[in-house]
Amino acid sequence: MKIWAIVLAAGSGQRYGGPKHELDLGGLPLWKRSVSVLESAGIDTVIVVGPVDGGIPGGARRRDSVAAGLAKIPDSVEWVLIHDAARPLITRRLVATVVDAARIGNSDGVIPALAVTDTLKLVDGDTVLKTVDRSQIAAVQTPQAFRTRLLREAHLIDPEDDATDDAGLIERIGGTVTIVPGDRTNIKITYEGDLELAERLIKGLQDE
Ligand code: C5P
Repeated sequence: MKIWAIVLAAGSGQRYGGPKHELDLGGLPLWKRSVSVLESAGIDTVIVVGPVDGGIPGGARRRDSVAAGLAKIPDSVEWVLIHDAARPLITRRLVATVVDAARIGNSDGVIPALAVTDTLKLVDGDTVLKTVDRSQIAAVQTPQAFRTRLLREAHLIDPEDDATDDAGLIERIGGTVTIVPGDRTNIKITYEGDLELAERLIKGLQDE
């Protein structure tokens, strides 16, 4: 089974206060860390989308950057992994979990997910409206794996509608998506301070 990966590094990092992809984490820029893990996990080819060495230009929205990456993937590649460079603590183990599930399962997409442990509230500004039942809620991560053909189709439908992940697009066209256990250390660098947390996690992992 041929499988390629797209690493997304074309975001403007609005919530962070500037682009994140070149930030240094343990001696490597964020985006390179993901590329190196995906390559060492045996992914055939890794395409980087973003203004980095060897990267291709991204688009205005995340889904546009994914579409730019998809355009570079030949039809013979059956599965594609989509990964946010903003999650530099991706591990080979997580890649293997996702890829193995894609290989043996029948679904169109496989995504890593975590149970939500915080109590969830529906709010309006700073007013609590009600408590949300968390038992059916999952927080999902990347890398996410999809059948390339179906992901291409999903990206052609309703191009004006945005989505925060590709699984959302597959769901909209009626594709099946299954979850596998995510990794609690696979955090997303979103706000200032997240990088420091990632640095502490790396040190902890090295000390083990
Ligand atoms: O902004 P968001 O948190 O959704 O970004 C997730 C990932 O998507 C980041 O790695 C970011 O670089 C990437 N992205 C992109 N092109 C965009 C917006 C986000 O590659 N236009």
